[in-house]
Amino acid sequence: MEKIISLTSNYPDWNKRMRNIHLVSISLFLVLMTTITISSENEFVQIVFSILTVFLLFKINKWFNIKRNKVKSKYYWQNKLLYFISSNSLYKEDYEIYFETDKNGNEKEKKRKFISNSAEFGYEKTSDKIIILALKNGDSYSDKITKLDVELSALLNLPLEEKIDRPSICEYHYYLKRPKRLNLTSSSFEEVSDNQTIQLGYGVEYNPENTPHILISGGTGSGKSIFISFLLLEFLKRKTTVYICDPKHSDLFSLSNYLGEEKVATSPNNIARVVRLAVNEMKERYEYMNANFKYGSNFVDHGFKPVWVIFDEMGAFQASGTDKMSKNIINEVMEGIKQIILLGRQSGVFILVAAQQMNSNTLNTDLRDNLGLRISLGSNSAEGFRMVMGSATPESIPPIEVKGSGLLFKQGSGKESAQYWESPFVDMGKFDFITELKKYL
Ligand SMILES: Nc1ncnc2c1ncn2[C@@H]1O[C@H](COP(=O)(O)OP(=O)(O)OP(=O)(O)O)[C@@H](O)[C@H]1O
Ligand SMILES: [Mg+2]
Repeated sequence: MEKIISLTSNYPDWNKRMRNIHLVSISLFLVLMTTITISSENEFVQIVFSILTVFLLFKINKWFNIKRNKVKSKYYWQNKLLYFISSNSLYKEDYEIYFETDKNGNEKEKKRKFISNSAEFGYEKTSDKIIILALKNGDSYSDKITKLDVELSALLNLPLEEKIDRPSICEYHYYLKRPKRLNLTSSSFEEVSDNQTIQLGYGVEYNPENTPHILISGGTGSGKSIFISFLLLEFLKRKTTVYICDPKHSDLFSLSNYLGEEKVATSPNNIARVVRLAVNEMKERYEYMNANFKYGSNFVDHGFKPVWVIFDEMGAFQASGTDKMSKNIINEVMEGIKQIILLGRQSGVFILVAAQQMNSNTLNTDLRDNLGLRISLGSNSAEGFRMVMGSATPESIPPIEVKGSGLLFKQGSGKESAQYWESPFVDMGKFDFITELKKYL
């Protein structure tokens, strides 16, 4: 932090200083021009100088005003924050008494206003972010300054990326430029088999080696299927084995025509078979990797490709267990999923869980916290967000209005809470998912 900004501290009042320089410059200029105009005897010269004077006055005035509000100005952020403190009444005025001696030598008691307390701010600027730091001093502002997300966003006219409330400082991170949403266009064949990092757009990248497993939650129409389709393409580009469990017989089921019937399951028995396949693959890889032990290695170092199990509507699957038989199958599947979640990372076996609504019955919170990437699409209740994000639920939820947008939390990203994110945009008229899919089969 460069310096503490508050109404009580002695800061160079840039605006005032600029205004004084402004007035002095304009006065000098006027005196000079008037002298020249009057001293000239030629009428034509007088007229030309008069016009020139008026024109230049406008120009100088404008230049000063631009200079005063320029983002590049050294005092730009400082002035904004000072304005913010005063316009939001984040300061306290008091009166002090002083004595003045009049002409007759009598002392007179007088009162004058002074600022006795003020909220304190600081800022840090990076190439793409401005971080506003609100200092908690244990005074009456300490509580108020942790709830300024909306006001600061309006002041800066920038979207909030993240807010971190620490014991002594509350940090507001604002993007200087809104991150770009990925826009899917039909591409030529593109294989990226050895780079596991997937660009998710909006400044987020995802690598399952560091952040294994994905959770996607969102109400109907929030964009889960579209985002899963996008991921599926990205997985296939990396020569991934993909298994699909679709207990609700929805969009994903139709992929059996392309991926093969043995890889797409809808009935409980088939789902159990598919999960068993993935678990066995995981165990075999472990045995192989142990036999060829390399310290700190993972599946990539052993030449394995990732395996992904995409499990849509886990809630519906669990609700389908009505009799003892089906309950046993569900238990077996959930046991397999648990093993993949807890052990899959090193061997490269991952799971993507999608659910319209998350609750602790769908997946207990311990398992949920082991899903490295958690996404909640569409708007939701505070409780709904908490079911997906757990302790990473942001204190204030940004407006989620754009189709396919929501909150995203990536473990190990250094961020403490979920951030606003827009999933890759798919123009249905221009992007044909099946055509793209066929390129990678
Ligand atoms: N990323 C996106 N780009 C463009 N349109 C989108 C995007 N996400 C969602 N939409 C729009 O929203 C509609 C619903 O999306 P989608 O089918 O993915 O929802 P869903 O969450 O799978 O719903 P359900 O739970 O009912 O299956 C899409 O048909 C599309 O019109
Ligand atoms: Mg869907």
